[in-house]
Parts: sequence; C-alpha cells; structure tokens
Amino acid sequence: MLQIQENVSLKNFNTFGIDTHARYFVEIAHEDELVELFADPQWQQTERLVIGGGSNLLLVNDFAGLVIRMNIRGIEHRISHNDVFVEAGGGEVWNDLVNFCVAREYAGIENLSLIPGSVGASPIQNIGAYGVELKDAFISCKVFEIATSAFKIFTKDDCKFGYRESVFKNQVKGQYIIVSVKFHLSLIPNINTQYGAIGQELANRGIASPTIKDVSQVVSHIRVSKLPDPSTIGNAGSFFKNPLISIEEFNAIYAKFPDVVNYPGGDGLIKLAAGWLIEQCGWKGKTAGNTGTWKNQALVLVNHGGATGQEVYNFSSQIIDSVYTKFGVMLQREVNIIS
Ligand code: EPU
Repeated sequence: MLQIQENVSLKNFNTFGIDTHARYFVEIAHEDELVELFADPQWQQTERLVIGGGSNLLLVNDFAGLVIRMNIRGIEHRISHNDVFVEAGGGEVWNDLVNFCVAREYAGIENLSLIPGSVGASPIQNIGAYGVELKDAFISCKVFEIATSAFKIFTKDDCKFGYRESVFKNQVKGQYIIVSVKFHLSLIPNINTQYGAIGQELANRGIASPTIKDVSQVVSHIRVSKLPDPSTIGNAGSFFKNPLISIEEFNAIYAKFPDVVNYPGGDGLIKLAAGWLIEQCGWKGKTAGNTGTWKNQALVLVNHGGATGQEVYNFSSQIIDSVYTKFGVMLQREVNIIS
C-alpha cells in the first residue's frame, strides 16, 4: 500500500539543501506503484514534481502539489561478444552505476564519474562531462505515461538529445516518468582524455596508457578539486548552461575580449564558458548573504547555510544582468527552478 505523506520537508531531498515543504510526498520503489498511484484520479489532477537525487533543482517556494520521489533500484547486465548491455532502475544513484561498470571494465560512462543525481534523471538533461554525454552510451529508456498508465519505450531518437536538453524538458514535459534506462557499453574501451585537465592529471600520475579505472579516478579527482561537495555545501552543480552564440556575436565579443574561453558548439555556433564570463564580472568566490558562487568554479552557486531558494534565485538574476551588461550574452539557468 502506497504511503502518501503530508507536509514533508524537502531539505534532505535537494542537494542545495533548501528547506521548503511538499504538501504531499510519495516514494516509488517499484513501477507497479506508479499504476497504483495514478489509479486515484486525485493524483492525475494534482500538480506534480518528480524527483530523483534532487541534484538539479532550486526550490524557490513550498510545493503545493505531490512530490514523487523515484527510488526504483536494480542493475542488470548482459554481455554479447564485446558489447555490454546494462539496464538500471531510475532510482539508482548515477555514480553507483558508473562504479558498477568501471569495476567490471564496462567502458563508456567512466568520464561521467561522480556526477550527482539518479539514473532516471540522467536522460532528462543529457548529463555530460569531460567530453562525453549520456547520449553516447544510451540505448533507450522505459517510461510511465501518466495520462494512460501505460509503460512505453523511448529510443535515443525519440529522446531528441541536445546539449543539456531532451524531449523530456521540452515537447513531452511532465507527461512521462522515467523508470529505467538501458545503456550500450563495451569491453573494448575508447579512452577519451581530450577534455581539459584529464591529460595533464594522467601525466602528473605518470600514466601513459590509462585504463577506464584511471580515467574514472582522474575525473573524480578533478571534480572534487573544482566542485563543492553537496553533502557539506549545498549546490546543484553548474547553475547556468554554457551559452551557444552565433559567429557574428562571437566576433563582436572577441574583438573586445580576446581571451574569451570558447569551444565549437556545433551547427555553426560557438559555445562560451559561462564560468569565465561570470568570473570576468567579478563574481567568482563572492558571498552574498547565505549564497554565493563557488571559489573554484564561478558557474556553481552555493548555499552557505540557511539560504532560501528565493535568495539564490535573486542572486542568479544579478549574475545574469551583469553578464548581459558586460558581454551582451543572456545566460540561461540550467537548474530546474521550482516556484
Ligand atoms: N572558467 C573560468 N572561471 C571559472 C570557471 C570556468 O574561467 O570560474 C573557464 C576555464 O577556462 C575553464 C573553462 O571555463 O577551462 C571550462 O570550465 P570547466 O572545465 O570547469 O567546465 P564548464 O564548462 O564550466 C561544464 C559542465 C560541467 C562539467 C564540466 C566538465 C555545463 C553547464 N557544465 O562546465 O557540468 O562537469 O563542463 O566537463 O555544461 C553540471 O552540469 O552540473 C556540471 C558540473
């Protein structure tokens, strides 16, 4: 029997550590419980917020509807020649899945080590780090369709993945709940150490031919050194997306700021490092009340203790305004704002 709780603090369910309340709260440990929940028309009509690890959320106000916390566990794996097929419950912790695969030398997601959050949330924003995105290893996900209580499969094409984007944030937002995700990994590693500091850190360790275990360890080391640990300092990773701009816009910025950090963005666009833009505006490591930016990575906003969601949101608006004033670039929030 499902337990619907009332007036539940969400403080321990969001990595920002914001203390707001949910009017109703339910934890789902098995997919049948979704069918049971939505058999009651009350929950069809109530506003819903589906959460996994709560690592990409900013809770600005109390939530007047039903928070559904997905906690479906289980990892299954099958090997065929050099191909490995892994299916994980949406409630598995993302990094537990990475560790499961790295320990067995199943290659493909080692660059995504230590990303906070759950497996079920990973396709929603096509998580990415150090030159790899979720879509590179993704086969499909099983979803629950709220309107019909049917389970369906979304293939990679169906998901329309982009940079921190998918169909689940756009065309079908709010209509489906991801229950499990299937990945295609390999026993033959395709070691990817091109991005940023990975190569340098491997060289520092004297590793010339890295294994996926080495890559996972180095990525974890870099993340720990740059990003605040949510268990001690509340945060939701990158607060903004790296902006994609046209060549013309880029040339105008480059003429004034030749140091501007940039990458090819695909489709003829240029991707700017939002952390650099924010740092240039003087925000890096700045504290404002109970919030601020992280000292080693200006793209990450933090809760120094007792911050409200509104306080963090207002602070993020100030950053957006000053980056726009200086560079003419409008930053977009990457974190899901619940207000
Ligand atoms: N930079 C600065 N100042 C800063 C931060 C960054 O000048 O305060 C510049 C540096 O030149 C650095 C460049 O920006 O070389 C890029 O920084 P970094 O390698 O830290 O990556 P990022 O572009 O800021 C993205 C992802 C991260 C991911 C890293 C590594 C987004 C929004 N963020 O950050 O993902 O870990 O690349 O791949 O795409 C997340 O999404 O929550 C997240 C942490």
